[in-house]
Amino acid sequence: MSKRKETQPISRSHTLQSHLVSPSDTNHLQTIFGGNVLAYIDEAAAIAAMRHSGEIVVTASVDSVDFHAAVKSGDLVNVEAWVASTGRTSMVVYVHVSVENPATGDMKTTTTSFVTMVAIDDQGKPAKVPAVFGETEEEKQIIELARNRKNGR
Ligand SMILES: CC(C)(COP(=O)(O)OP(=O)(O)OC[C@H]1O[C@@H](n2cnc3c(N)ncnc32)[C@H](O)[C@@H]1OP(=O)(O)O)[C@@H](O)C(=O)NCCC(=O)NCCS
Repeated sequence: MSKRKETQPISRSHTLQSHLVSPSDTNHLQTIFGGNVLAYIDEAAAIAAMRHSGEIVVTASVDSVDFHAAVKSGDLVNVEAWVASTGRTSMVVYVHVSVENPATGDMKTTTTSFVTMVAIDDQGKPAKVPAVFGETEEEKQIIELARNRKNGR
């Protein structure tokens, strides 16, 4: 493990990226290509996992992606990611994608995803990662979401 503690707060990995959707990002219905959303998710998840582990990371699997609502050209998209559970060298990252109304600040969930990232040391081998804990109610709920998903509930 790099110079990280044995356990870290989930806030350490919190990542927020915003994107403005342009016409070239969208299909003939003027809604975003799913692959573009997956690219947003993969990048945010990687940054969250790097923040948590302090290591380079690779995507081991995209465990689930649920598209709840469409995203249109001109929309402001927020992609948030947190390391929600950990194994020895792997991290499950919860990613929440929403559309923001810039006039009101209202948010609407469009996509949710769980991605497994693996930390890689400077020898190219999987590296041990810290455990994760939540401090606020919202953070504890994210960890619970990941735990329930793992248990198949
Ligand atoms: C992911 C990878 C590093 C795992 O390497 P490995 O030699 O299988 O290493 P291990 O068997 O020690 O597994 C390491 C961890 O990865 C997890 N893992 C491996 N394959 C996985 C998969 N498909 N899904 C989820 N987790 C996986 C293991 O469960 C283990 O987790 P743990 O340490 O928390 O218990 C390796 O398969 C790899 O480099 N894959 C390509 C990654 C890549 O290029 N991603 C970008 C694709 S576009």
